[in-house]
Amino acid sequence: MILPIYILGQPVLRQQAQDIPADYPDLKQLIADMFETMYRSNGVGLAAPQIGKPIRVVVITLDCLAEDFPEYKGFNAAYINPHIVEVDDTETEVLEEGCLSLPGIHEPVRRPKRIRVQWLDEDLQSHDEWVDGYLARVMQHEFDHLEGKVFTDRISPLRRQLIKRKLQALLHGQVSCDYKVKLPR
Ligand code: NI
Repeated sequence: MILPIYILGQPVLRQQAQDIPADYPDLKQLIADMFETMYRSNGVGLAAPQIGKPIRVVVITLDCLAEDFPEYKGFNAAYINPHIVEVDDTETEVLEEGCLSLPGIHEPVRRPKRIRVQWLDEDLQSHDEWVDGYLARVMQHEFDHLEGKVFTDRISPLRRQLIKRKLQALLHGQVSCDYKVKLPR
């Protein structure tokens, strides 16, 4: 089932998301719905707060990047209770980001290139891995959602000033995109 995507201004996007228990009801269905919602809106990642749930569940698809990054062919993954436990900040990189909860806004964001992440996969197997490349970028963006952060929190004050009007428009529910959304009240 395709779910509406919550737009910035919805309080859930500013909440700290909680770990879920292994017996969380209908987890498989929730993950399937999140994948379907992400594909429909052409996103590369979706975090549960973006569909209104303050829980630590994220889906990522990088298959659409396989032309440039062959290693991501067929890459679709769910992350349950993910946590960044270590950051290698010796190398950072600036890349443009966007977000399904902030349609129409794209800004360069500086982030570390390597992170160590612990999570459970869809079969509840635990992982503890260093991640780099584009996946590390998308993970950091998505896991920020679980901390109540969005990417525009990480841009320079000057850039934020420049997009102030766009952000205000979003917060007032002026949104144009081709997927189902839940506007801020
Ligand atoms: Ni996002």
